[in-house]
Amino acid sequence: MTLTQPSPSLDALVGIPFTHERVLITTGIRSGLVITVAVHSTRLGQALGGARMWQYENWTDAVADALRLSAAMTLKNAAAGLNLGGGKSVIHLPLGTALTEAEKRDAMLDLGDAIESLDGAYMTAEDVGTNAELMAVVKERTDHVCGLPQSSGGVGEPAEATAAGVYASVVATLEALFGSREVQGRHIVISGLGQVGGRLATALAGSGARLTVSDVNLARRDLADSLGASWVSVDVVHLVPADLFVPCGLGGVLTARVIGELNVLGVVGAANNQLAQPEGATQLDARGILWAPDFVVNSGGVIYLALASEPGADPAVVAARVEAIGDTVSTIFTDAREQGITTLAAAEHLAAARLDAVRR
Ligand SMILES: NC(=O)c1ccc[n+]([C@@H]2O[C@H](COP(=O)([O-])OP(=O)(O)OC[C@H]3O[C@@H](n4cnc5c(N)ncnc54)[C@H](O)[C@@H]3O)[C@@H](O)[C@H]2O)c1
Repeated sequence: MTLTQPSPSLDALVGIPFTHERVLITTGIRSGLVITVAVHSTRLGQALGGARMWQYENWTDAVADALRLSAAMTLKNAAAGLNLGGGKSVIHLPLGTALTEAEKRDAMLDLGDAIESLDGAYMTAEDVGTNAELMAVVKERTDHVCGLPQSSGGVGEPAEATAAGVYASVVATLEALFGSREVQGRHIVISGLGQVGGRLATALAGSGARLTVSDVNLARRDLADSLGASWVSVDVVHLVPADLFVPCGLGGVLTARVIGELNVLGVVGAANNQLAQPEGATQLDARGILWAPDFVVNSGGVIYLALASEPGADPAVVAARVEAIGDTVSTIFTDAREQGITTLAAAEHLAAARLDAVRR
């Protein structure tokens, strides 16, 4: 292949140090798609992280995403108190690709073969662009997959648990800001009303919060109307004066400009990788905006997948572990305040302490 313009180095694309245990990059024999399975760490146990099937300009962008996301999963799983390491798989779809059902099936079988070749170092689950039904296809090639449809004996999709964890984090953030866990009457702005944001909006409306919501998908306005929420366009949603801004769409939403323009006291949401740059944590701090680190807030899904998949799992115990995310968020706020560090640094310290406690 002839490159018409210089391609950025992988190092520049990834933007974080390479500290990964194993990375498999393979072209699927059936699908012809480039599949990356990145095992960042197995120090706490088998690496768990979802399988993303998404469009990227270059396959190297997909590799970079897998490297970043797998490192983030190590932090997330450690901070969540799980005995699991961090990993992620990414299937690169060239821009403009729309797979048929048969092609998706081929991609999942290829993914299953790639995962199987890692001898149990990594367990996959659904993520952006995949779902429980596709995980059942992966299962045809490997046992190292969770979150299968409930109709085939699996634990299903984790969005409900993720939303419950975000709700607990919202309450913890309100408590830190106002000294009260009361949701009623608080003005909360939710950007992204998908699987998680939709459930969260419904729960918060049920608790009497005043909601302003937004989504790039205008069809979601029906849900907003049914909840009595105000609707604003995505371009201005971060400008709305409110108590909390709750990002539940895609990552990278907290750019320097957005942080500079926010008109809230706290940010706490489901979206992964909310900070466009790590410096965003310092900028939020300097503006006096309390940020609940995303990888802690949205860990309900992975807690559910890990614990509900165990034989004889007790749903009440799983729910209590998800609810406890709120306590972890409170601890992070306290640590950050007492040590004069950002909430991001406090959350990273929490995860690092668990990782450091495990000697090899
Ligand atoms: N589903 C889970 O269990 C889970 C677990 C952990 C993290 N997350 C993260 O939470 C976020 C939401 O996940 P989901 O499962 O609800 O996804 P989803 O695809 O069901 O919903 C995302 C919603 O955000 C909207 N959206 C996209 N771009 C937007 C933008 N720029 N502004 C406003 N809205 C936008 C989409 O139209 C969609 O309605 C993602 O970042 C995901 O990675 C989800």
